[in-house]
Amino acid sequence: MDTTSEQYERAAEVLRQALSLFVMTGAGVSAESGVPTFRGADGLWRNYSAADLATPEAFSKDPALVWAWYHWRQGIILKAQPNAAHRALVALEARFERFLLLTQNVDNLHFRAGSRRVLELHGNIFRARCCRCGRKVPHTIEEDAARSLPECACGGLLRPDVVWFGEAIPSDVWQESVDFLKEAQAALFCGTSGVVWPAAAIPGFVREQGIKTIEINPEPTPITSIVDLSLRAKAGKALPEIVRRIIEPG
Ligand code: APR
Repeated sequence: MDTTSEQYERAAEVLRQALSLFVMTGAGVSAESGVPTFRGADGLWRNYSAADLATPEAFSKDPALVWAWYHWRQGIILKAQPNAAHRALVALEARFERFLLLTQNVDNLHFRAGSRRVLELHGNIFRARCCRCGRKVPHTIEEDAARSLPECACGGLLRPDVVWFGEAIPSDVWQESVDFLKEAQAALFCGTSGVVWPAAAIPGFVREQGIKTIEINPEPTPITSIVDLSLRAKAGKALPEIVRRIIEPG
């Protein structure tokens, strides 16, 4: 069932009434930029097992293979442009005094679109971290870097500065998000399958706070039964529809 104009109006009304807005995004908001999701029909994990590529064990076993996968993904993302969903979230950020965008995405597209009050729960694919000294550096694939092993100035091996399965998420990002949620008045979950922890715990936590909640996803997810309003729609369509009703009411 497609989302109706009445549902977009209901979502817009929730956001109009709120003085502070928390947004959590997943790979679905970048899907319309041509960046594959992880678990959808064309998902990245369909062709690889997570254990083969996105774990510390996989990296220590074959760092060249893991870097080749991240360099391949960087190549796809560098050709991608932020889409209407990213731009609508920039417009929403400008409308709220108190706004926080917590993204699970590592593709940097929210920043490229102009979002600023963004926290990256799973790191950033264009940043690398030294396995020896811990230094973080910007890292984008050089044209001729096929299967090279990037090194830190200290000589240590660089790894992608992203959170792998089995690794802890950045505690400062988590704490800032939880602190923000204590005073948020509305929460929007967009383009996430809601199955990867600890991000998957946030919708339930938000619900317990009595905050008005909205989901945007063409498919139902575990979040669907938790939120007040679930829009069965693509982010690139739903977010501009909602933002338009807020900015040009009537
Ligand atoms: N608009 C909105 N949602 C969409 C769109 C779209 N155009 N296209 C697909 N989706 C939805 C899918 O229905 C799916 O529910 O986006 C969701 C993407 O889910 P995942 O691929 O599981 O991505 P995500 O939820 O971000 O995964 C969380 O898992 O692999 C790890 O670290 C990785 O951050 C990632 C985490």
